[in-house]
Parts: sequence; structure tokens; C-alpha cells
Amino acid sequence: MCGIFGAMGNGCVADCLQGLSRLQYRGYDSAGICVKGEGLSTYKSVGKVSFLMDKIPSNANGTVAIGHTRWATHGKVSEQNCHPFVSYKGTFALVHNGIIDNSKTLTTKHLSGVTLSSQTDSEVVVHLLEKFYQGSSLTSAVKVMEILEGSYAIAFVNAKENAIYLMQHNMPLVVGVDKDNNHFVSSCIKCLPSSCTKVAVSKEDFVAKVTRNSVEFYDKNGKAIQPNWSKLTGSLLAASAPVDKGKTHMYTEILQVPTSLQNCHAHFAKCAGIGLSKVQLRHFNRIYLVGCGTAYNACVSAAVATRGLLDVDVIPVVASQFVCESYPVNNKTLALCVSQSGETADTIVAAEKLNAHGAFTYAVTNTDNSRLTFVCKESINICAGTEFSVASTKAYCCQLLMLILLLVDVSYATGNISLVEKQKVYSTAGLLPSIANNILAKQSSVMQLAKLISTSSAVYFVGRGADYPTACEGSLKLKEITYIHSEAYPSGELKHGTLALVTKGVSVVNICTHSGLVGKASATLNEVATRGAQAVSFSPYKMPVGNILHLPVVHPLFAGVTSVIPLQLLAYYTALELGRDIDMPRNLAKSVTVE
Ligand code: G6P
Repeated sequence: MCGIFGAMGNGCVADCLQGLSRLQYRGYDSAGICVKGEGLSTYKSVGKVSFLMDKIPSNANGTVAIGHTRWATHGKVSEQNCHPFVSYKGTFALVHNGIIDNSKTLTTKHLSGVTLSSQTDSEVVVHLLEKFYQGSSLTSAVKVMEILEGSYAIAFVNAKENAIYLMQHNMPLVVGVDKDNNHFVSSCIKCLPSSCTKVAVSKEDFVAKVTRNSVEFYDKNGKAIQPNWSKLTGSLLAASAPVDKGKTHMYTEILQVPTSLQNCHAHFAKCAGIGLSKVQLRHFNRIYLVGCGTAYNACVSAAVATRGLLDVDVIPVVASQFVCESYPVNNKTLALCVSQSGETADTIVAAEKLNAHGAFTYAVTNTDNSRLTFVCKESINICAGTEFSVASTKAYCCQLLMLILLLVDVSYATGNISLVEKQKVYSTAGLLPSIANNILAKQSSVMQLAKLISTSSAVYFVGRGADYPTACEGSLKLKEITYIHSEAYPSGELKHGTLALVTKGVSVVNICTHSGLVGKASATLNEVATRGAQAVSFSPYKMPVGNILHLPVVHPLFAGVTSVIPLQLLAYYTALELGRDIDMPRNLAKSVTVE
């Protein structure tokens, strides 16, 4: 979603723009920056940060700079709606992530006579700061926080001060410090400069005053508090993320799948498994796997793969649905809340609801110190490494692997499998990186299949049993970055409706990793071919019609972890063929921090 960055001192404009470039994978509708020099100068542009850079005079400099990359929620994509916003008397400039639910009410109540220049909820906040300002920016911020409803990470500057003020409620906002004690503000830890050695994070709501060399945190009543300070390691930081020359983040991240799986497996071993006692695990009579988008697909895949290993219900749930429905929850409920970013609002709200009803919440994320890890009672890192591409790839593989390993641990603790069986599963998981490498070696064949897929008017992905969630993930990847219409179905469902759409010009992608299902998969493919559609299969087994990419045979528990890789490549090469903006697909954002 949106991104906030702030820098101070000489070079603050360049630092801020670099920060925004790192952040723009989170939202790229428009970008803006405010520089405090003699006064406040703001520059805005629709589109990428590079367009904004082109608009800024080369001699622009000042003492403080705050910037924003936008993913529109309130108001269309336009320069008018682009942050930063300046207050009606010109004292403050502000950038905001999140949603102010009561912006209309606040405008009516407090801002009569003030003309709003945008359609955004964010602009209201900067005028409120001006309205309540009586000489102290901090006091004004505290007063505004008292009346704001919604979620927000806000950074603002006062035209008369060399400082950045922060306001946080339910949205990430951190302060990074480099070895020379320079302070930076970012809405994403991973987007701090690689020179930063430590970061201040607060689980609670806060107001903060950041100067070039200091930071003071206050609670929402203005009382001084201490944030949590953590050390930063280079591996966390954006600057260290390699992108092969001329390639996209997505491609680089697919190539990193083997290493990520290796790290994920090693981390699970280092944590000695799920980290809950047998007594605790035996107490649970229901397990929810909660997530959104790709994370949800990993939940479904893990639930299906481990179905025979557990005698308690393992129920995958879309986080936003969980919040609206009446799922049974009590203190015998274990909820694995899965989120790569650890910031997805829908997943966080679901975790809060689960907590409120007594469940044991357990975060499965790729981001330590993310909000989800604060909300959940326990957490484990999938160790996929930083993922920038909006279309998640290596994180999916690691989420799935981690969920399976965690559920196998529960299976052992509840007496469903023996220690020997558990150890066998763990050692089998250790083979996945080399299997992933074998699949990556077939890239050129996938590229050929992508050429066929790129001409399709629609692509239906099908699979049975454990292959169905893989089909869902393959379809999601394809639609996200190619914009070709795509859906996924359990193979058996095709004939119950969707076959009506299967005609010439349409492609059906069939995933079949189980030898026992080859007969049924073949029947589905024949039905498809009979109706003139193009069939493409991903399977270790021979199929009667269409093109095929041969996959290695993998232990059924882990087949989904590796059979998804060629589908990720298929989406990538199809998007490449169609000339799409692969890392920044239209209308999407890497982490969705509003409900
Ligand atoms: C967004 C992204 C998806 C991602 C989903 C969940 O929709 O575009 O790629 O799968 O959020 O993200 P999370 O960080 O919670 O795993």
C-alpha cells in the first residue's frame, strides 16, 4: 500500500527519494515529497517515483524531507490527491498511510471555512493539526489523535522546525538510526537505508518527534515512553536485495526459491518446531489457517496436504471472511495467521478477533517485528528473505513448507504419527531445494508454454485433491501480472458449469502430481480438447492430449511446494511476452494495510 519515508540534514532530498524508490513496490499510483528549506516546497507526480524525480529541481535542498508513495483508497489517482498535503495556513505538511474513518464528520465539526484541495481523508488531518496548533506541534498531534478514528501512520513537518513528527495507530511506522546517528523515518523496516544499524518500533499507539540525531516517543496522551530498539542486519534491508541485471524482482525471487526453502527448513529446525508443549497442542480441538491472497492459497494447500495426518479439523479461512462470519472460536482453538508482510489489515483484524475469543494465535510471517507478530501470541519466521515483487513466489513456497512442518509437529504431539515418521518427513523436506533447482532448470520449456498461453482469451487452472490449491495459486499469479482472465477449479467441477466457457481460444492448465489421479485428469483433458480448447499439463505422468511440462515425482505431502514453481514461471514468462509491468501490476500493492 502507501509508503512513507523521511530524512533530515544535508542530502535529505536525495535520501528521501531513494527511500521512496525502495518503498514504491508497496504502492505506485503517484508519489510526492515536501522539502523544508526557507519554507515548505512540495513536489508531486502521478506514476512512479522516477517521474517525481524528474520534476524536482536539481538544486532543491533543505533540512527536512518527507515523502509518500500512494496506493489510492480515497479519491482517484491524480496530483491533487497525491501526498504531502499542506495545512490551510501553511504551517504543516503531512503524509499518511491508512484510512481515517471519520474524516467527513471531523471536517464538518472542525473545519468549516477551510477549503479542501483533494478528495482524500488524509488532507483533513493536516488541517486539524493547524486548527489545534497553539505553538506546540506535539500537543497539536496529541489533540488530533484523540479525535481520529481509523488506522494511520502519519509523518508531518512544521515549517518552523527541523524535525519530523510521527503519529501511529495500527499501522507500521519506524525510526531507523545509522552508525553516524542519523535518523530516518520509514513505514517499512526493510526500506530503511542499508547503513541503518538499529530501529525503534512501538507496539502501542504513539506520537514521536524525530530530529536528525534524536528521537522522542510519547504515548497517545503525550507521556514520554520508550520504544523497542532492535538491531538491524543487512539481510533485512532493501539495498541488499539483488535484482539480476535486466530482470525483475519477481524473476530474481523465483530463482531464490531453492535457497529460501533451505533457509525455511533450517529455521524450523533451529526453532525446534512449533515451540508449543505437547500438553498445549493436545488441548486444541480445531485449527484455523488464516490469510489473504497467496497466503490464503498456502493455507488451503497445507490443510489439504496434511488432512490425513491430523484428527482435529484444519480449516483454511480467508481473513476478511473470518471477520464477518461466525466461526466457532474458544480457548481450544489454534489459529495459524499467515502473512508474508505481517502487515495485512484483514489478517491482523482476524487475529485480533481470534484473540478476543480466546484462541491461541500464532503468526507465520516473513517479517519479524511486524504488527502481526505483536498481535499474535507466538510467531515463526518463514525466512524466505525480503520479497519485493507484488506477485508473491518464494514466500508462497516457504509459507506452505512452514505450515506443513508445523502441522506435522502437531500431528506428532497428538499421537497421530511416530517420532520416526516425523523425522522422515523432516528429512524429506530437506530434499525440496534440489527438486526446486531441477524444476528451475526447465525454464526454457516453460517459456515456450507461456507463448501459447499468452494468446488465450481466458485460462482455467484445474487440479484434483492437493493439486487444486496449486491450481488456485497458478491462476492467481497469472491474472495478477498478465491481466488475462483466469480462474481455478477442482478438475471435477469443470463439467458442472465452467465447461460452458471452454472453447477455441481458451487454455486449460492441468496440474496432476498424483499417479492415482492420472486417469481422471486424462478424462478432464479429453473433455477440454473435444471442445477446441488448448490443454497444457504440469505433471510427472503422461497425459493424453496437449502440451506437457514434466515434473519430478515428489512426496505427496510436499508436492504443492515445488509444483507451483513452473506455474510462477508460466505467469512470469506470459507477462513478459505481453510486455506487462511485472513487478508493479496495475491496481495492486504488495501489502494491503487497509481492510
Ligand atoms: C496483497 C498482495 C498479495 C499477497 C496478499 C497477502 O494482496 O498483492 O501478493 O498475497 O496481499 O499478503 P501478506 O503479506 O499478508 O502475505
